[in-house]
Amino acid sequence: MDKMQDTIDLLKTYNQEHVIRLLERLDDRKKQELIEQIRKIDFQQLQELYENTKKEIEIKENKIEALSYVDKQKLKKQEKEALEELGEEILRKGEYAVVTMAGGQGTRLGHTGPKGTFKLDVYGKGKYLFEILAENLKEANKKYGKIIPWYIMTSKANNEETQKFLEKHNYFGYDKKSVKLFTQSELPLLDTEGKVLIGKDMKIKEASDGNGGTYSSLRATGCLAEMKEKGIKWVFIGGVDNALLKMADTVLLGLAIKEKVQIAAKSIVKANAHERVGVFAKMNGHPKVIEYTEMPEKMAEEVDDNGELKFGEAHIMCNLYTIDAIEKISKEVLIYHSAFKKNSYINEEGKEVIPTEPNSYKFESFIFDAFELFDDIAILRGKREDDFAPVKNKEGEDSPKTAKELYEKFWNRNSPKN
Ligand code: UD1
Repeated sequence: MDKMQDTIDLLKTYNQEHVIRLLERLDDRKKQELIEQIRKIDFQQLQELYENTKKEIEIKENKIEALSYVDKQKLKKQEKEALEELGEEILRKGEYAVVTMAGGQGTRLGHTGPKGTFKLDVYGKGKYLFEILAENLKEANKKYGKIIPWYIMTSKANNEETQKFLEKHNYFGYDKKSVKLFTQSELPLLDTEGKVLIGKDMKIKEASDGNGGTYSSLRATGCLAEMKEKGIKWVFIGGVDNALLKMADTVLLGLAIKEKVQIAAKSIVKANAHERVGVFAKMNGHPKVIEYTEMPEKMAEEVDDNGELKFGEAHIMCNLYTIDAIEKISKEVLIYHSAFKKNSYINEEGKEVIPTEPNSYKFESFIFDAFELFDDIAILRGKREDDFAPVKNKEGEDSPKTAKELYEKFWNRNSPKN
């Protein structure tokens, strides 16, 4: 009874009276489930997130500078070999782990399952995105004689399906004991008045809280502790949707070691001012990625004396960290960005409403916002045709068609295996 009263008080404090009315209508079991959910939600945080949606995003241009990088293509043979050697040593000693962020919804792609279960139509038979990633890692394992522990971040919505899919395909030949799935956290969706949406299951509707949640989820799920136990020194974190992602690039690793930095990333040259990618920059002296959704147009189009884009180093989600860096970030609260989206909900009459216009805020933290916690980052400029074949949209740019072409061209150039 006290629990019920506490819950009602809490909901009143945070102007969520519609949830009280819902509670009153539910049977005992459903009521308990909802109360349990409510008790786990940080309504104070939600209120702050809602207040923030009313503020303009501020990018103080005068404090933003371009970030320096090392161009992989321009490295002399000896320089490259020296970096490779540094990187290889870590891999040979088994001090390297990989995290794949696979919690996204893939809405833009129009694929209903988890994005990693999307089959790219390559070389006739086709390959699943998870299969492509597994192959990349297996190749590194063979080369360096150690099995890289592979952590896959799922969301509550796609965890079971991902697990079943990987089981069904026998982890694409990856050592099953070395693969671990962990689930990211969620946050409720809020309407334009800051009220939580109710889902069909008569619970508060929650959604994945962005890939910035990777760090804290690694900690919360015990994966970070496990990595430390295994003696892991470097952790790679990458996306699930780049068919040319190189997850064990010894040059990138070597560069990070040589430059004595805690974080490193591979970039490519942005294709044009309006490509939908984040770009690396330095903000108030700290490394940063400015996301395409938040980049002022003028800034995106700015060119330097050579006519090149001033902010032209694209973030391709090919990021590397020391284990200490992961530990440090996992204890911090990253900022949340809000996206105004269409989300269906159950109204007070118990009817489902499917909006035709955006009606609610989804809150997401971004993986790269953690970079600001460090003084330096090592950036290695890779090459689009070697490093980036994203599968984002159903058609046109960054679609299965463009990714297939890039993937096949790369492998036709680099090895006949297909
Ligand atoms: C992302 C990057 C962008 C980069 C581009 C390159 C972010 C916020 N933006 O944009 O800077 O230039 O890729 O392709 O990272 N994910 C989760 N959980 C979530 C949300 C996303 O695991 O809650 C995963 C997705 O499965 C995917 C990755 O994060 O692997 C990127 O997410 P997505 O939302 O598709 O980012 P983009 O808009 O493509």
